Amino acid sequence: MDDAHLLWEWANDAETRRNAFSKAPIAYDTHVAWLQGHLASEATRLLIFADAIGPVGQVRFDVAHDVAEVSIVVAPARRGAGHGRAILTEALGALRAEHGSRVRPRARVLAHNGRSLAMFRACGFVSVGVERRDGEDVIVLELPRDGV
Ligand SMILES: CC(C)(COP(=O)(O)OP(=O)(O)OC[C@H]1O[C@@H](n2cnc3c(N)ncnc32)[C@H](O)[C@@H]1OP(=O)(O)O)[C@@H](O)C(=O)NCCC(=O)NCCS
Repeated sequence: MDDAHLLWEWANDAETRRNAFSKAPIAYDTHVAWLQGHLASEATRLLIFADAIGPVGQVRFDVAHDVAEVSIVVAPARRGAGHGRAILTEALGALRAEHGSRVRPRARVLAHNGRSLAMFRACGFVSVGVERRDGEDVIVLELPRDGV
């Protein structure tokens, strides 16, 4: 919970909201309740990455049955420098170390989010379908079992 405020700032950044399914700003109290719930859940793993400069970003896995839904945010000031790809690779390694090949990482990315799509594909994810959500196309990507 010490990182609650940092995660809230990243979640409320304009680019993050534009690329999320729900575009409305998130109230701090709502965020804190949401975070407490996720941290208490056995199904969630939330990894925060930092380097010598400071915080880099977060990767979250929500595991249900044999699927791990991936969520990723890089700190606004650190975007576009390859950190997304780096922290996703690290996080996938941690997921594999915990679950082996029992769970399949899956991401849902809005079709207009070219940077996120490029990052997931660079990490081995492949498109498995397209969904429609509130008038927007959503690309569903998965990491094949032998992908990492
Ligand atoms: C999406 C996000 C996590 C990517 O992290 P990042 O550190 O900025 O991305 P990277 O620097 O690793 O770049 C990823 C790739 O996208 C490419 N790229 C950058 N802008 C692009 C664009 N507009 N269209 C297509 N590709 C683009 C980069 O060249 C890079 O490819 P490369 O590694 O082959 O050179 C980060 O930008 C972010 O936090 N965005 C806001 C939140 C968000 O959208 N999260 C994902 C929701 S699904």
